[in-house]
Amino acid sequence: IAAVAFGAQAADYPVKDKPITIVVPFSAGGPTDRVARDLAEALRKPLGATVVVDNAAGAGGSIGANKVAKANNDGHTLLLHHIGMATMPTLVRNIPFKVDSDFEYLGMVNDVPMTLIGRPNLPANNFKELVGWIQQNKGKINLGNAGVGSASHLCGLLFQQAMGVEMTAVPYKGTGPAITDLIGGQIDLLCDQTTNTTSQIEGKKVKAFAVTTPKRLTTPALKDLPTMEEAGLKDFQVTIFHGLYAPKGTPADVQKKINDALKVALKDPDFNKKQEGLGAVVVTDRRVEQAEHKKFVAQELDKWSPVLKKAGVYAD
Ligand code: MLT
Repeated sequence: IAAVAFGAQAADYPVKDKPITIVVPFSAGGPTDRVARDLAEALRKPLGATVVVDNAAGAGGSIGANKVAKANNDGHTLLLHHIGMATMPTLVRNIPFKVDSDFEYLGMVNDVPMTLIGRPNLPANNFKELVGWIQQNKGKINLGNAGVGSASHLCGLLFQQAMGVEMTAVPYKGTGPAITDLIGGQIDLLCDQTTNTTSQIEGKKVKAFAVTTPKRLTTPALKDLPTMEEAGLKDFQVTIFHGLYAPKGTPADVQKKINDALKVALKDPDFNKKQEGLGAVVVTDRRVEQAEHKKFVAQELDKWSPVLKKAGVYAD
């Protein structure tokens, strides 16, 4: 009688008292983690659920991405990822998932500039002196990154190509631990997102040489940094977009609820204030549309694939 009385409820989303997990494919304390935690905060109310972050790091971000590709498609396991969705397919051989067909695209979040930074005791105080130091130390330079396929890896590749100097890549599970080693002097250089570097540059914990955006940034701690173009590297521009993903087959009404909640979250004044303070730019409504998101990632894949193939760097 109870079953008849209550009837068969359509599967509601979110499931009562079940948290929604945002998987971050890099270690805690890094730039992707920063965006995810601020976004989780802003999504809590519009989704009407507890939103937690799970760091599933390794292999340049493909371990975490694969975890979501293979997860239950009930809308309770999501992926926050960045430009790596457009670089991994070219860089990671035998990648265990397909970026275009194993995920539902739930909308984009923000664009984040990158900064070229160095250890605090690096004997160079501006980009020109850095170039001199690089030329004198060929073969001895350690460049941190978050694994092949990460944003820091992509930026590091572009920088080595621009300098015509190969550097030793030192991979970490995220640029959180990478920047800690840079501050400690264990590595020489790192190209990382302002969501991670702004506070370290402000605190003079690292040397800062340039930003990778077409124009200078307005964030107080970053506004005096030259663009790569001003520094003489005119084609060197890279901005890191972030998007939200779910496993393929997530019900369309669940996808819509998440995309609607994302649009509310991206207008959250607190979220915007945090992002602005870190040099990030929250995307406008057009780019939060799911179809736009999917189209943009496909365009980025086409843009970066030839660049990466030329670099010939692959992860097995
Ligand atoms: C990257 O380099 O892809 C990310 O900055 C890594 C991270 O978020 O830790």
